Amino acid sequence: MSEAKTAKPVSHPEMTTRKDNWWLEPLLIATGFTAFIIYATYRVFENGLYEYNQYLSPFYSPHFEFEWWHFSPAILILWIPAGFRATCYYYRKAYYRSYFLTPPACAVDMHGPDKYTGETKFPLVFQNMHRYFFYLAVVVLVILYYDAFKSLMPPAGGFSLSVLSLVMFANCILLSNYTFGCHAYRHLCGGCLNSFSDSPRAKSRFQIWNLVTKLNLKHQFWAWMSLFSVAFTDFYIRQVCAGSMDPFVFLQF
Ligand code: FES
Repeated sequence: MSEAKTAKPVSHPEMTTRKDNWWLEPLLIATGFTAFIIYATYRVFENGLYEYNQYLSPFYSPHFEFEWWHFSPAILILWIPAGFRATCYYYRKAYYRSYFLTPPACAVDMHGPDKYTGETKFPLVFQNMHRYFFYLAVVVLVILYYDAFKSLMPPAGGFSLSVLSLVMFANCILLSNYTFGCHAYRHLCGGCLNSFSDSPRAKSRFQIWNLVTKLNLKHQFWAWMSLFSVAFTDFYIRQVCAGSMDPFVFLQF
């Protein structure tokens, strides 16, 4: 993330000599983030309409219930995906540009004085916790897969396949593509090696690293797709709980 520190902003009274619509991308990103944050905050504090029979919203999974906890159970879990995304390399670039304008785009002057000190000092030093959030995010992802499989089993017994279950599985797949394209995970698979042939598990490590690299190349795409899918899955389950949408079961026995 040294780009903002090393890039030489163009010294110009109007911030830049660029003639293209450089402001469009940071504007769209800020709009998308803000919309998601408002929706997620509303859902966390709504503290209801998150469980319908075998369907559980990803915002409330795993569903903790403690006698000593009197607030929304979503607060107990959402700090993990929130911390994972907030410290993600892609999201850092996106919100440094869109919210803090440091700088808002390549070859565009910084907004305000250059106080960027890298991620070695408080508070940005906490961005280095990303790898630990990755481990926790994998645990949450496994639980979401469990929820998706559980959605196939109605409380009365048997098996049922619905559009809502398919949405829950699609959400898990999109989240997997985002999570396992993580830069920290890529380093975990292929890092600390001068060459793969020196490693005792060279072939398998190289194969995993190759797969992670493919996902990593589209990390921005998977970041947005999974952000959208997790909100949509929650919204669908909320509407089913409210009685305004149907899970649309199309196979049952
Ligand atoms: S770098 Fe984006 S999830 Fe790790």
